Amino acid sequence: MPIYEGYGTITDKLTFIIDIGAAYTKIGFSAEFAPRAIVASEVRCKNTNQVRNIYDYKDKEDLYDLLVEFIHLLYFKYALISPKDRAVVIVESLLCPTLFRETLAKVLFYHYEVASLLVVPSHLVSLATLAIDTGLVLDIGYTEAVAIPICHGSPVLHAWQALPLGSQAIHSHVKTLLSADNTGIQNISESVLEDIKEDIKVRCCFVTKRERAEKLRSVSSDIAPCPSVVYPLGGTKSLNVSGKLREMMYEIFFDEDLDHLCISTMILNVIASVDVESRTLLAENIVLIGGTCMAPGFKARLKAELYRQLKNERYSKFKNIKTIKFHTPPAKENYTAWLGAAIYGATEIVSMKALSKDQYFKEKRLPDWWSNLKDVVRSI
Ligand SMILES: Nc1ncnc2c1ncn2[C@@H]1O[C@H](COP(=O)(O)OP(=O)(O)OP(=O)(O)O)[C@@H](O)[C@H]1O
Ligand SMILES: [Mg+2]
Repeated sequence: MPIYEGYGTITDKLTFIIDIGAAYTKIGFSAEFAPRAIVASEVRCKNTNQVRNIYDYKDKEDLYDLLVEFIHLLYFKYALISPKDRAVVIVESLLCPTLFRETLAKVLFYHYEVASLLVVPSHLVSLATLAIDTGLVLDIGYTEAVAIPICHGSPVLHAWQALPLGSQAIHSHVKTLLSADNTGIQNISESVLEDIKEDIKVRCCFVTKRERAEKLRSVSSDIAPCPSVVYPLGGTKSLNVSGKLREMMYEIFFDEDLDHLCISTMILNVIASVDVESRTLLAENIVLIGGTCMAPGFKARLKAELYRQLKNERYSKFKNIKTIKFHTPPAKENYTAWLGAAIYGATEIVSMKALSKDQYFKEKRLPDWWSNLKDVVRSI
């Protein structure tokens, strides 16, 4: 008997929860407090032996093949269960391309014969971890920062905002900053360099205060940056990570562009787009999700930036907003959305609203999540 079958009897009734991110995929079971595994969203291509991210697809067929390989890894390497006749909940971003969600449904129903599929939006389900129905959810993951206000259980879709400010933006910034201090960096292959950049970002860097960042930027300033660190590279070589790089790395999130857009102004613009009564409520119920928010000092700096922006003439209409509050969900930021989906997966919503195999074979389409879930999310 294959090992996953024996184990499968223990987890038989549990729904499988998958959150496929641009960088990391989180998988686990409903009603559990954390994912069983967080794995890179990539597969090794059988023909070329190259590692490919599942979002780097060429066309529909290529995506289908990548997803077949990837879902196989999730079930048989990491979760050790059989997908056949088991319910699945997929966490989806609002900006997920239709081609991706439809191909994923096709792979799960046709190739893996799952019993039913429920697609839930990441911003909405994150509020379930806090048992609140109103909040401004900001997801800063790998590719972008997306802010969506949720009022009384309904996402206010016309007010959403997104900026290409995620870990990807930081990584390309690190390369430029590292190249200035280290000459040998051009010889490192791009795939290895991506891991190095991420490792340096997570282990060595932090978010500093605005006053320090401004002083460090000016040439005449006498302020000393934090100590530099030597990052070992392959045993014999090393990279010098300067103190300035360690402190200034996250500044791109707080530097306004020509349209005055940065993370803090994006949040205030979202608040400005909702009705006047909900503004104070949203400012006091901000929920930060996504791995990039886990950087040391990020939340404190963002709060300080929001208070600073509120004093700006541009936001003079926000006189009623006196306090800005961030929630602390009972999970790390990178898997808060997964946990929300695991809570949904443990309720009757799965049996009531999930798309069954028979329904899918009949209609051959995945319903839009909002038309599917709108009656139930308001009642949670
Ligand atoms: N402690 C930490 N400090 C700083 N960054 C971190 C930390 N932990 C994770 N990250 C970063 O968070 C990013 C991944 O976040 P997350 O898992 O939310 O992204 P994703 O869901 O894959 O992407 P997306 O939401 O854009 O599809 C990675 O780039 C990782 O380097
Ligand atoms: Mg994500």
